[in-house]
Amino acid sequence: MTAQMPARKPARPFFSSGPCAKPPGYSLDKLATESLGRSHRAKIGKSRLAYCIDLMRELLQLPDTHRIGIVPGSDTGAFEMAMWTMLGARPVTALAWESFGEGWVTDAVKQLRLEPTVLRADYGQLPDLSAVDWSNDVLFTWNGTTSGVRVPNGDWIPADREGLSFADATSAVFAYDIPWDRIDVATFSWQKALGGEGAHGVLILGPRAVERLESYTPAWPLPKVFRLISKGKLAEGVFKGETINTPSMLAVEDAIFTLEWAKSIGGLDGMIARSKANAKALNAIVESRDWLGHLAQDYASRSGTSVCLTVEGADADFIKKFASLLEAEGAAYDIAGYRDAPPGLRVWCGATVDAADIEALGPWFDWAYASLRQ
Ligand SMILES: Cc1ncc(COP(=O)(O)O)c(C=O)c1O
Repeated sequence: MTAQMPARKPARPFFSSGPCAKPPGYSLDKLATESLGRSHRAKIGKSRLAYCIDLMRELLQLPDTHRIGIVPGSDTGAFEMAMWTMLGARPVTALAWESFGEGWVTDAVKQLRLEPTVLRADYGQLPDLSAVDWSNDVLFTWNGTTSGVRVPNGDWIPADREGLSFADATSAVFAYDIPWDRIDVATFSWQKALGGEGAHGVLILGPRAVERLESYTPAWPLPKVFRLISKGKLAEGVFKGETINTPSMLAVEDAIFTLEWAKSIGGLDGMIARSKANAKALNAIVESRDWLGHLAQDYASRSGTSVCLTVEGADADFIKKFASLLEAEGAAYDIAGYRDAPPGLRVWCGATVDAADIEALGPWFDWAYASLRQ
């Protein structure tokens, strides 16, 4: 293998797994700014927040049974809000196979002092989904961003479950079909598949989650930013754009830009198709190099968004140098694996990335590998 630098660079070398690439054609001056510098409770602010919610509902193909609202604190805020407001009513099972799932286990154990049953698997694998006791509330991550392992589908979640399903779906939505009838709570952030901004989370609640909120009061105090109940009833305004506290209207306008772009490319189907094409292009690179492999062992549960790769003989230092070389040349940004994951590469394959840019990565990988091996 030669260390000849490739001639062609990806046109948009943005492969971070969060915040992810902006959509093609994005520029700040294309954002609507009428709602900025105004009260978010004025007509314009409220209508933009409601429009953003409507677009998300439409693009996610969310049924009328489920509510969707914008909350503070990005995906973490949304998921913590769900945990703190609904857990404790029944036993909890938490699934963890990478860093973020492990984070929810830590909070359930150390902060909420619940004693969850924990089903774990190593990086690259999935725990035994058939071992879940659905009389429990169940916490899981639909797509483990740091290991590139996802649940293959929702078939393992029974329709007649007693407990609630809590899905951290931040790097799954807009890339996979989510069977909403199996979801009681889902959360995500705009900064992943939409290429939007952090700061806000999105909280989706099915009817059974609403029932839980209205019938159960946790034993612990709740900060104002977590409160979803007012006078014993769900604060419905949150799901119409009346946010708990002041939102960033700039982040909202930014999300609206991508949602409109997503609509223009065929909505959810278009997003999924782009993501699949990206993952396929990356897989072709991996398959044709014996020094590259997938961290995810099983194809059915391999992520199509945060694709994690192994590099033969690489330690953390090698990966750091590899990623730095590509970054210095402007060929690929942010492709080192997550800090807690086994040393490797991670390439975001969500819809905002162009397949031609993924294809262009192959020769750059060869160049970086050969340069460091010399
Ligand atoms: C699976 C998962 N959960 C939670 C988070 C945290 O998201 P945020 O920083 O938007 O709160 C991330 C971010 O990478 C993630 O990938």
